[in-house]
Amino acid sequence: MPTPSMEDHIEQIYMLIEQKGYARVSDIAESLSVLPSSVTKMVQKLDKDGYLVYERYRGLMLTPKGLKLGKRLVKRHDLLEQFLRLIGVQEDLIYDDVEGIEHHLSWNSIDRIADLIQVMEENPKFIQKLEELKESQQSD
Ligand code: CO
Repeated sequence: MPTPSMEDHIEQIYMLIEQKGYARVSDIAESLSVLPSSVTKMVQKLDKDGYLVYERYRGLMLTPKGLKLGKRLVKRHDLLEQFLRLIGVQEDLIYDDVEGIEHHLSWNSIDRIADLIQVMEENPKFIQKLEELKESQQSD
């Protein structure tokens, strides 16, 4: 099982490769707000565990195992963002909240939240009720 920190690195690497076509240690360090030296250490561990191939002067590439996990982690992140947005969480809090909780939910919980999103989207009254509750609290 990958640790939260391993997941964070794979998630960022996957997104960087999707956006730019490559992922550099310096870019990963910047997006995770950590030191490049700690990214290098983590990347070496991820290489050893078969998630990516890292060559100091040639950059890094995700293996099929790393790609599969990266895709799943990004999907999980997006799903949780969608959930918090649907229940009316303040937009500027959403990203950090998801970063904080995403590693600590089982895939079973993730699947149930996905079901809940579906039910909510099929029942606009449910979302409307939540909005009404939120508004009534704000005016207290
Ligand atoms: Co995330």
